[in-house]
Amino acid sequence: MRKVLTINRIIKPFNKKIYIEGDKSLSIRWVLLSSLSRNKSISYNLLKSDDVMSAISCIKKLGSRVKVKDNKCEIIGSGLNYKIKKDLILDAGNSGTLGRLILGLLVNADKKFKLVGDKSLSKRDFGRVTKPLKKFGASFRSNKNRLPLIMKGVQKPKPINFYEKKGSAQSKTSVIFAALKSEGTTRIKAKKSRDHTEILLKHLKIPINIKKTKNLDYISIKGVKKINSLKYRIPGDMSSSAFFIVLTILSERSQILIKNVNVNPSRIGVINILKKMGANIKFINTRKYRGEMIADVFAKSSENLKGVTCPRNLNSSAIDEFLLIFLIAARSQGVSRFNDISELNQKESERLNWGSKILSLMGIKNKKTKDSIKIYGNPKLQIQKTIHIKNFLKDHRVFMMSVIAALTFGGKWKINDPDSIKTSFPSFLKTLKFIEQKKY
Ligand code: S3P
Repeated sequence: MRKVLTINRIIKPFNKKIYIEGDKSLSIRWVLLSSLSRNKSISYNLLKSDDVMSAISCIKKLGSRVKVKDNKCEIIGSGLNYKIKKDLILDAGNSGTLGRLILGLLVNADKKFKLVGDKSLSKRDFGRVTKPLKKFGASFRSNKNRLPLIMKGVQKPKPINFYEKKGSAQSKTSVIFAALKSEGTTRIKAKKSRDHTEILLKHLKIPINIKKTKNLDYISIKGVKKINSLKYRIPGDMSSSAFFIVLTILSERSQILIKNVNVNPSRIGVINILKKMGANIKFINTRKYRGEMIADVFAKSSENLKGVTCPRNLNSSAIDEFLLIFLIAARSQGVSRFNDISELNQKESERLNWGSKILSLMGIKNKKTKDSIKIYGNPKLQIQKTIHIKNFLKDHRVFMMSVIAALTFGGKWKINDPDSIKTSFPSFLKTLKFIEQKKY
């Protein structure tokens, strides 16, 4: 792939039906859970991105057998107790989800191992999972809770009580995974975050109990002796779909239908926020699959967008889509305010800082603090200058958001590192080519 993508045009009106690759969170969870079952698990439409491939190479090193052919993936896992080889090194690549979740599953590792990741992942905080995992009895060595880290599990993890305050599904899931390996009941009080793990475990008939209140989920989970295999068809990824939803909303005389998207309520903050801003989006043919909500998502060009004060309780369900929401705010009449979003700076790059920087480069006034941003929309903005986006730690979402900005606000954009899309959405440029019927 080229090192820089240059875009110097606004996209022409389009009307298309598309399919989006499998959901990343569900793909990684399916791979990890399948590694715990000695029977054969089968999935269709597993996302074949670098993050998911890193998950597959980790579970192979832990004794699973994996076969991937076309759209189908089969895993025969090694059971609940992984065999840890001497001097084992697990590489989570770019994936915070993989790195944090797999540590939970390794809470009972009987030997030391090392977890490493790429440059971006090595800047991210692992204290949010090592802290509760220590309470189970595991021990760690690292420099300031950053990768690389060395972990040793404990033979009999003790169940814990854990209060997850950040709204991080990764921390919550890591603790749930560790709880599966403990004797007794672990109790979690968690700020709202995506709940795919809980839904999958319920489907697997694992003793998990969830009480949902307005702001918190109370989860109790018992250790298990065995996990059943899991047959699963992974639905399309809402976070990836969002790039094309926003592209359509910001384009003239265009519409799009995206088939089979996961519309789990804990993932559709982007839709709820954009609707408040006046975007034309609707779900068609909503149905349930293995506890998850699936729908076809229809979006069309939306004029008269208006600024919003984003309700804080929508933050976690839109956590990966804020860069795109900022673009809609840029096109809106009036001021938009997003508060309590410091978690954005904990992602693959410091996304709150990047969002502000890209808006400024576009000529959109904005005021940022360490946990908020105020965006002064300009519905008439047409960019004339050259904008170069570089040194963003290959953050896939910064790259794709910049492509969408270029195709809808104009100007000449040079965007580095197109290969960053391999992290979550390898067919992003191919899908764009199909929509635009152009060469990339
Ligand atoms: C994820 C949880 C979120 C999200 C990430 C995927 C998951 O991270 O940003 O892309 O699959 O559990 P946090 O748990 O850090 O909020």
